[in-house]
Amino acid sequence: MTHASHDTDAGRFGSFGGCFVPEVLRPALEEIAEAWERYGDDADFREELAHYGRTYVGRPTPLFEATNLTEHLGGARIFVKLEGLAHTGAHKINNALGQALLAKRMGKTRVIAETGAGQHGVATATAAAALGLECEVFMGAVDARRQVPNRFWMECMGATVRQVHEGTATLKDAVNAAMRHWTERIEDTHYLLGSALGPHPYPTMVRTFQAVIGRELREQLAERGVDRPHTIVACVGGGSNAIGVFHEFVGDADVRLVGVEAGGRGTGRGDNAVRMSGDGRPGIVQAYRSLFLLDDDGQVLPTHSVSAGLDYPGIGPELAHLGTTGRIDFASATDDETLAAVRLLAQKEGILPALESAHAVAHATKLAPDLTHDDALVVNLSGRGDKDLFIMAEALDRDAWRAFLRDELARMDADDEANA
Ligand SMILES: Cc1ncc(COP(=O)(O)O)c(C=O)c1O
Repeated sequence: MTHASHDTDAGRFGSFGGCFVPEVLRPALEEIAEAWERYGDDADFREELAHYGRTYVGRPTPLFEATNLTEHLGGARIFVKLEGLAHTGAHKINNALGQALLAKRMGKTRVIAETGAGQHGVATATAAAALGLECEVFMGAVDARRQVPNRFWMECMGATVRQVHEGTATLKDAVNAAMRHWTERIEDTHYLLGSALGPHPYPTMVRTFQAVIGRELREQLAERGVDRPHTIVACVGGGSNAIGVFHEFVGDADVRLVGVEAGGRGTGRGDNAVRMSGDGRPGIVQAYRSLFLLDDDGQVLPTHSVSAGLDYPGIGPELAHLGTTGRIDFASATDDETLAAVRLLAQKEGILPALESAHAVAHATKLAPDLTHDDALVVNLSGRGDKDLFIMAEALDRDAWRAFLRDELARMDADDEANA
C-alpha cells in the first residue's frame, strides 16, 4: 500500500494527511467519511458512546497525583492519567467502541483491525463482542509471539487472529494485510483502524474518539486547583493517545506538549522508531502523507522497540504537522530507560505501566527536576503493564522466568502423559 492512485484535499494537516488510496478502496473511504460527517456530531451517537464510556469502559479514568515520585525526583508536581484503568487496559477502547458503534450505524456486520502490542486488537475484539459484530484481527507474527497474552484474549472473545509473516512481521505489515483483506470484503466489513493515522477521515475520527482523555484531564486538574498543566507528556506510536490528551490543550500556548518516541536500542538505522526527533522523512505510506522512516529509495525501514505498540515507522499526520510547526516537542526514550521507568513507577507508586506508556514516564523523570512545585507535569499513562509480563519477567529476572516456564512445560507434558 505504498502507491497513491487518488488524492483529495480532505483531512489535511498542513502538508500532511489526505487520502491516497487505490481506486478499489475509494468507495469504502467515502462511505466512512459520509458516516462520520453524519454521526460525528449526532447527539444520539455521542450519547450512546458516552453511555458505553461511563458504564462499560469506566470513564472518567482517574487522575492520580504521584506524590512519592514527585518527592523522589524533586521539582514538578507529577500527575498520571490512568488510561490503563479503562476496560481492556489501555486507551485503545475509546476509539474501538466509537468506530464499532459507527460501523453498526453503517450497517456493517464485521470489523477487521491491525494490532501491534495487541491492545488495539483486544479493544476491537471486546467492542465487537459487546456489540455483536464478527471480528478478525491481523497481527505481525513477531508481535503475536511477543504479546501472547493479548492474542490469547482476542481468541477467547471470539475474534480470529491472522498472523502476518511478510516484511518485518510487525505492525506496518499487519496494516498492509488488513487493508488488502478489506478490499475483498468492503460491503460487510469496517476496517477499525487503531491509531490517529491512515487516510482521511481516520486521523480526525480517531482523535475525536480519544479527545475524551484531554477533556477529562482539564476538569480533573481544575478540581485539584490546577488551572493549566505546565507540561503534558505522552508516548507516541501512531499517536492516538498523544493527540487524544493534547488536543484539548493545543490552543493553550503556555502548556508544553511533549511526545515521546521509541529510542529502542540506540541511534543506528533500524534500532529505533524515532521519526520526529530523528530521521523521519516526508512520504506517502499506507494511504496518507506524513513523516516516515524511509531509505533513499523511499522504502520503509525496519524499526525496533521493546514495546510492540511504538515500533511503527510512521506518525499520525496531525502530530507530524504540530511537531514540524513547533507546537509539540518530541523526545525519545531508549529500551533501557523504559525498563528502568517501569521499575521506578512500580516501586514508588505501585503502578505497573505498559511498556509503551513507560516511555512517557522515562522522559518525565528527566523533565521534572528542572521544574518547580508550582508546575503540574502530567504523564498520560496510556496503558497498564499486565500484557508485558513475558517481556518484563525476562528483563527483570531471566533465570527465574526461564525456570518457571520450564516447570510449566514439564507439568503440562506430565498432565498430557497421564491423560494419554
Ligand atoms: C498501551 C499503549 N500505549 C500506546 C500505544 C501506541 O499507540 P498510539 O500512539 O496510537 O497511542 C499502544 C499501541 O498499541 C499501546 O498499547
